[in-house]
Amino acid sequence: MTRTVVLAGASGYGATYVREIAELEGQGRVRLVGLCDLQPLDTDTYKQFGDRPFDTRLDRLMAETRPDLAIVATPIHTHLPLSRQVLNAGSHLLLEKPPAPSAAEWREILTLARHKSLSCQVGFQSLGSGAYTRLAELMAAGELGEIRGIGCYGAWSRDAAYYQRATWAGRRELNGVPVADGALTNPFAHAVATALALDGSTGWDDIVGLEAELLRVRDIQVDDTSCLRLRTGRNTVITIAVTLAAETPSEPVIVVHGTQRRAELHYTRDLLVLDGQPEHHGRTSPLENLLANLGDGVPLQCDIAACGAFTRVLEHINATPTPRLISERWLTHDGGGPGAKTHIPGVEQAVRASAEQLSTFTELAEPWAV
Ligand SMILES: NC(=O)c1ccc[n+]([C@@H]2O[C@H](COP(=O)([O-])OP(=O)(O)OC[C@H]3O[C@@H](n4cnc5c(N)ncnc54)[C@H](O)[C@@H]3O)[C@@H](O)[C@H]2O)c1
Repeated sequence: MTRTVVLAGASGYGATYVREIAELEGQGRVRLVGLCDLQPLDTDTYKQFGDRPFDTRLDRLMAETRPDLAIVATPIHTHLPLSRQVLNAGSHLLLEKPPAPSAAEWREILTLARHKSLSCQVGFQSLGSGAYTRLAELMAAGELGEIRGIGCYGAWSRDAAYYQRATWAGRRELNGVPVADGALTNPFAHAVATALALDGSTGWDDIVGLEAELLRVRDIQVDDTSCLRLRTGRNTVITIAVTLAAETPSEPVIVVHGTQRRAELHYTRDLLVLDGQPEHHGRTSPLENLLANLGDGVPLQCDIAACGAFTRVLEHINATPTPRLISERWLTHDGGGPGAKTHIPGVEQAVRASAEQLSTFTELAEPWAV
């Protein structure tokens, strides 16, 4: 069956959906019936889909095209209004992560989707990885022994241009509305959501303890170097230590410390390393999974209802004071202009130590964090 699709947000991350939709159209699985963006389509997208209805207003496009589903890949603070327009039009929704910049907005989308009996998938694509599924199954079957804890480390590097690319980048709020573009709630949101899902702790009430050390190296409103420690209702300790100020970037890793086995999930690479043995897996995208959900009732990889614990973390972060600026004496700088980068020498080791020892930066006595 061919499902009709509207895409809101055709550039930025939306370009990923443009490519995927083109592929799925080639297989006869979807038909793109409209695109919505505030900006004109870029040359590549125009070449591909310039013949389709285009509108800057999603509600109008939804009314005209009445698609089976719509994808919302627009800035975080637009998720609620655009999701309302999709769900009120009676279409299923694929909403990019994080689903909403506040708990109230997440609840409203969830309630509306339930009320309308529509599927709402959130674009945490790490949850569609075969590596994630295999690890979750091994943990549930007790193959790792008792879980002593889950630690995640991530060390990426972002330049000045990253924060200049959009008005909402690096912001907690914009014109009075929450945005929540911090390291833990946006670039490393997959780490938080995936660690919680591995523990089977995705509900709002599944978190019983929450500590966050939020720091920044730049003149931004949000954290770029952060350590989160959670305790879940299953008594699992989860730490997530991340930075966007690494000198030597590497892909993030979730370490599951079992009493019998150790597992490392490289969630951006579909790689699972079990006691040192690598296993490469494939993945099912959030869109393919949503199509299977609509067609055959396959469970959603990331139902919006399963973002409760994640949203509780986000709400906690929103409520903390502005992240502390790390003193200049602990920082180095590289380049100028849009390519300018700031580094915290040694931060790569710090985030890793946090994941291994389930400790916070302060407990590790990292001088820039104390
Ligand atoms: N799943 C992932 O790995 C991943 C990666 C990056 C970004 N994202 C998410 O994708 C979303 C978009 O992020 P981005 O960096 O591409 O944002 P962006 O600022 O680049 O905007 C994306 C597109 O949305 C359009 N847009 C903005 N407001 C709109 C509106 N009201 N109606 C219609 N179109 C609108 C913009 O013009 C742009 O073309 C965010 O939720 C972000 O967190 C997900």
